[in-house]
Amino acid sequence: MKKTILVTGGTGFIGNCFCKLLLQERPEWKVINIDVCTYAANPHTIDEELKNPNYVFYKEDIRDRKKMDEIFAKERPNIVVNFAAESHVDRSIKNPTIFLETNILGTAVLMDCSRKYGVERYHQVGTDEVYGDLPLDRKDLFFTESTPIHTSSPYSTSKASADLLALAYHRTYGLPVTVSRCSNNYGPYQFPEKLIPLMIAKATNNEKLPVYGQGLNVRDWLYVEDHCRGILAVLEKGKVGEVYNLGGHNEKANIDIVKIILKELGKGEELISYVADRHGHDQRYAIDPHKANVELDWDPITRFEVGIKKTIAWYQSDLGKKWLAECIESEQEWLKANYENRD
Ligand SMILES: NC(=O)c1ccc[n+]([C@@H]2O[C@H](COP(=O)([O-])OP(=O)(O)OC[C@H]3O[C@@H](n4cnc5c(N)ncnc54)[C@H](O)[C@@H]3O)[C@@H](O)[C@H]2O)c1
Repeated sequence: MKKTILVTGGTGFIGNCFCKLLLQERPEWKVINIDVCTYAANPHTIDEELKNPNYVFYKEDIRDRKKMDEIFAKERPNIVVNFAAESHVDRSIKNPTIFLETNILGTAVLMDCSRKYGVERYHQVGTDEVYGDLPLDRKDLFFTESTPIHTSSPYSTSKASADLLALAYHRTYGLPVTVSRCSNNYGPYQFPEKLIPLMIAKATNNEKLPVYGQGLNVRDWLYVEDHCRGILAVLEKGKVGEVYNLGGHNEKANIDIVKIILKELGKGEELISYVADRHGHDQRYAIDPHKANVELDWDPITRFEVGIKKTIAWYQSDLGKKWLAECIESEQEWLKANYENRD
């Protein structure tokens, strides 16, 4: 059936992958991308999508109520999926305010428009970081949807606030809301401030690879396309008012990820440089995706061993190299200040 789906943050890492998936697998749908294009969005990310007649791009800010109202009035979306966010923990520690503005107030604007124009579904893209962290020595513990919210950083707090607001809009106003909370994603087109692309970029240039603390923090890695398939499954099979955890039971310590990348690129471990730890650094994230497995029939398809090879190969391709260089060029100052000469 023909639908109009409005995706915010569709020029970012996961939002773009989601648009690609929709254009490929729901070719009868119209896909609207609203993205203000912060530092995290390389405009060339959407070069291919812009050629598709079913794809429309608005370079606008989700905090701009008037503009959002105009777009909703014009496009009359059936479905809204909100990826737009400030997404980097380190930046939230330096400047929390923009995180509160975009991640909480921007979400409220989108939900007000969704109410006004009667969307069939508003989906909030969330993170497992809202659950806080788990101890490294309790491998038996996992985050379920009923794990209490217990945030550590301004980023995770802003994301938790957005989730709670979305669920409140469902209960108070009857807005048909769903929420998904996903573990760490990896794949092509991820901005090189995040662990995997940062390490690939540094290793490729034979630069030091800055690893926080001892690199023992554990993350649960999911290939970005699997996350996007999970969100589509929530839209098509999920129940309104519910939260779904998406994760792949693929826990890895940061240092092991770094070593895998070095090995894949044929570089030595002497490039590793241990740097002062992040403030309030969460120890371990681990998702229990049982509810999504059973209720949505969703399971990740891409094994980590395959996904990481595909990812590294993309960043090593001509397109990936060019894309990475453009990102690094535009954010020289931040990347230098944060990831060079740390001790
Ligand atoms: N990356 C992960 O591992 C991960 C895991 C779980 C959940 N998430 C969530 O998924 C979503 C997408 O994450 P990502 O990794 O693709 O982030 P990203 O930083 O790559 O992309 C975010 C996009 O949002 C856009 N944006 C930011 N502020 C905006 C505003 N005010 N108006 C319009 N657009 C704006 C940016 O320009 C960018 O294109 C986020 O909500 C994030 O919290 C990410």
